[in-house]
Amino acid sequence: MTTTPSLPDRQPVETETVKAALEAIYNWNYESEIDQLRSLYANALDRQWVAVRDLDWEPEIDREAFSRSFTMGGIPVNETEFWKSLAPDTQWEVSRNTATFMLSNFLHGEQGAMMVASQLVNAVPHMDGKFYASPQTMDEARHVEVFAAYIEKLGEVQPIAPGLKKLLDGVLSTNNWHLKLVGMNVVTEGLALYSFRDMRMQTEEPLLKELLRFVAQDEARHTGYGVRYLSQIVPTLSEQEIAEIEDFAFEAARLLIDSRAGLSLRETALGIWAQAGIDPADAMAALTRERELIRTSLERSGGRTGPIRGLVVPTLKAIGLFSDRICGHFDEMFEANFQGAFGSIADDPFDLPKDLEAWALGAPAE
Ligand SMILES: [Fe+2]
Ligand SMILES: [Fe+2]
Repeated sequence: MTTTPSLPDRQPVETETVKAALEAIYNWNYESEIDQLRSLYANALDRQWVAVRDLDWEPEIDREAFSRSFTMGGIPVNETEFWKSLAPDTQWEVSRNTATFMLSNFLHGEQGAMMVASQLVNAVPHMDGKFYASPQTMDEARHVEVFAAYIEKLGEVQPIAPGLKKLLDGVLSTNNWHLKLVGMNVVTEGLALYSFRDMRMQTEEPLLKELLRFVAQDEARHTGYGVRYLSQIVPTLSEQEIAEIEDFAFEAARLLIDSRAGLSLRETALGIWAQAGIDPADAMAALTRERELIRTSLERSGGRTGPIRGLVVPTLKAIGLFSDRICGHFDEMFEANFQGAFGSIADDPFDLPKDLEAWALGAPAE
């Protein structure tokens, strides 16, 4: 008797499409042209890991450790008296729901990264660039796998934030590989790398901490790819082409952090507090009263003020994609969102960390 092959029981129930035509480039030269990318590729092969083998998925999430070390976008809420005054169940509910929201967006971003990395195999002209984008595609598949598995232990996957969705659509649908590279490997992955490092350093939940160590190590290479590749390409481009890349990078950053671009972390967080029975106005007032404590504890972590100014902008500067013109756009955005709390970016002292991987694992920037 022959058996008819059957489809898997679980079919995708929620899919969505975006037109992503791109020009695929063959390269008949197989010798290395950009050594720095070839060595990054070798490094990527050497550092592969396996989620089900290298992480211990058995234990339940340590709720107490999870709530005790709860932070929000790098802000150490857990150190305030206000947080300590909440009942353990409330702490767990707020920290779990906030983390589920953030990790869900990491998850969706990882899916976007996987699709873009696979596009880069086709779209970049240099063989070394194609080589490197291949293991990155594999890295991103693993990241999707681990974030999905961790969220399953924590709650349910939340929908993608509108700004992130718009950004991913833009990166996937452009036919220009310079823009794909800057939008994904510099802006999106720079923000991700900063956020993973932050979350990993703060959390005391063992599985999350270990998972983020593996992921942050990979992300350091992904950002490194954007930096090494674009640093070689940008000096060969016209002023107009460079301005186009700068504009695209700015728009990507704006979609990720500008509260005018859609649902912000702040609004979502306030909704989560309200759901847990805490008046959001009370929470904000209490946190504002303890701002000094929050500021000093942020200083202990190196004082970098968030992912865009702390990492993405220094990366753009290092590549040669941060003209006075684009600095003005960033300043205007920060002014609108933070009412001048941080001053002009032109005065920021942060450089791109020399050893991105060591920095990703918690070493101070040199
Ligand atoms: Fe990733
Ligand atoms: Fe990545």
